[in-house]
Amino acid sequence: MSNRRKDSVSSLERLEQIQYIDNLKNRIFKKGLKYHIVTYGCQMNVHDSEKLAGMLHEIGYTQTDDQRQADLILFNTCCVRENAELRVYGNVGALKSFKQANPNLIIGICGCMMQQNDVSEYIKSTFPFVDLIFGTHNLHRFPLLLLQAMDSNQTVIEILDTEGAVVEHVPAKRAKEVSAWVTIMYGCNNFCSYCIVPYVRGRERSRLKDDILSEIHELAGRGYKEVTLLGQNVNSYGKDLNHKYLFHNLLRDINEINGIQRIRFMTSHPKDLSDELIQTMAECDKVCKHLHLPIQAGSNRILHSMNRKYTREDYSGLVGKVKAVIPEIALTTDIIVGFPGETENDFLETLEIVEQVRYDSAFTFLYSPRKGTPAEKRKDQIPQDAKKDRLLRLNDAVNRISLEKNLAYIGRNVEVLVEGVSKNRTDVLTGRTDTNKTVNLKGDSDLIGKIATVEITNAHSWSLEGRVAVPADLL
Ligand code: SAH
Ligand code: SF4
Ligand code: F3S
Repeated sequence: MSNRRKDSVSSLERLEQIQYIDNLKNRIFKKGLKYHIVTYGCQMNVHDSEKLAGMLHEIGYTQTDDQRQADLILFNTCCVRENAELRVYGNVGALKSFKQANPNLIIGICGCMMQQNDVSEYIKSTFPFVDLIFGTHNLHRFPLLLLQAMDSNQTVIEILDTEGAVVEHVPAKRAKEVSAWVTIMYGCNNFCSYCIVPYVRGRERSRLKDDILSEIHELAGRGYKEVTLLGQNVNSYGKDLNHKYLFHNLLRDINEINGIQRIRFMTSHPKDLSDELIQTMAECDKVCKHLHLPIQAGSNRILHSMNRKYTREDYSGLVGKVKAVIPEIALTTDIIVGFPGETENDFLETLEIVEQVRYDSAFTFLYSPRKGTPAEKRKDQIPQDAKKDRLLRLNDAVNRISLEKNLAYIGRNVEVLVEGVSKNRTDVLTGRTDTNKTVNLKGDSDLIGKIATVEITNAHSWSLEGRVAVPADLL
C-alpha cells in the first residue's frame, strides 16, 4: 500500500485522528503491547521520538528497553552523514530474525532518511519484512499509519512531498524530567551546499508564539526547570510570520515564565546572529551564557563554496562582539573537514580560527557527500585518508583547548542544574553549568531538579567533576 500524499495537514486533522484512534485503543490496551524506539541524528529527531512515544502512550503502548520484548520497533532515522544511514541499514537488517521469531512484531522506519528519493522503495525491496515507512512531514499521522500497518500484510508507505502546516497538540513523552526540548521552528532555508537537511525537512516554518509560550508554561507547571529551544537556525525565528516578533522577543517572553530557570537554544547561524539577540542574552538572567555558533570552516574560499554567507572576518567580528558583551560566554561550534577542494592551507585556516576563538567544545565531522546536494556533484572530492588525517589534527587542537578551558574550572564554585543520575554510574549525579559543561557529582538524589553550588574538583575534555559546596536544604 503506497500512498504519496501531496495535500497539507492540519492540527484539526490530528484531532480527528485522535477520535478515530480512541475507538481502537482497546486493541492495544488489552494486549499490553510494548514499543522500542531507536533514534539517530540531532536533538530535533530526539524530540520527534518523544512525540512518537507520546502518541504511542496515548493509544496504550508502554516502552521497553529490550528489543526482544517489543511488539513494535521503530527507527527514527538521520541522513546528515553516510555513516548514520549505514547504521540504520545494518540494524534494520538484523531484525529479520526477530520478525521470524515473532510474526506479530511491527517494524517501522521514519525520519529524515525516508524523505530522500528512492530510499523507501529500496527499503521495501531489500527488507520486505518492514511493515511501515513514513517521513518527517506526517509524523502526527503515526498512530493511524500504525493501525493500517497492523491490518495489512504489505509495507505501508506514506511520505509527503511538502511540509504543510505546523501541527500542534501532538503529545510528547519526554525522556527527561528536568530539562525539556521545545521545537520552535521546523525546516531550513539555507541550503548550505553540503547539507541534506533542507531537502528532508522542508522550508522554515515558525510555530506561533502563543503555542510555544503555552507549551513552556505547561512544562513549568509540570516541574521542568530548563527548556532548550530547537530549530535548524533559531536566529531566523518569526521571519516567516510577521517579522515583528523575532527570536529575541521570544526569549524575553520565556524569561518571564515562572518556574523555568534556564533557557538554552540551538542552532544559531552566524549570518543571522543579531545585536538584539546578543543584548537579550546579556540582559535575560535565565538565558544561559552559551552560544553554539557553527563555523564549519575557517577559509573564506571554502565558506563561500559551502554557501555559508559569511567570511572568517565576519565570524571573528561576531565572536569579538559576543565576548565583549558577555565575557563569561561559552562558545561551541561545528566544523567539517575535507569539503571538496579544501587544500592544506584552507585546513590550516580552520585550525587557526579554532586557536583564535578557543571553543569550549566542538563537534567535528568528515565531509560526507550527500546525494542531491551541490557539493556531492563536485569533481574535486578529497581522498578519505587526507580527510581523516585532518580530522585527527583538528580533534587534537579542539580537545586540548577544551581541556585547558575545563582545567581552569578546578577550585571554582559553579551553579549546576542537577538533571538526574549519571548513565554510567548510578551513584553519581549529573547536571550542567550555565555554560553547558557537564558536571558529575556525588550527592543525594533530592538534589535532582535543583540548582546546586558545586565546587569543581577535576576536569576532563568533555566533563567536569565536583562536590556539593552548599547543601540542598540551604539552596
Ligand atoms: N542547522 C544546524 C545543524 C545541521 S546538521 C546548523 O546549521 O548548524 C549538524 C552539523 O552536521 C552541521 O553543522 C555540519 O557541521 C554537519 N554536517 C551537515 N552536513 C554534513 C555533511 N554532508 N558532511 C559532514 N558533516 C555535515
Ligand atoms: Fe544544513 Fe546549513 Fe540548514 Fe544547518 S543551516 S541545516 S548546515 S543547510
Ligand atoms: Fe537532524 Fe539528521 Fe534530520 S541531523 S534534521 S536527524 S538529517
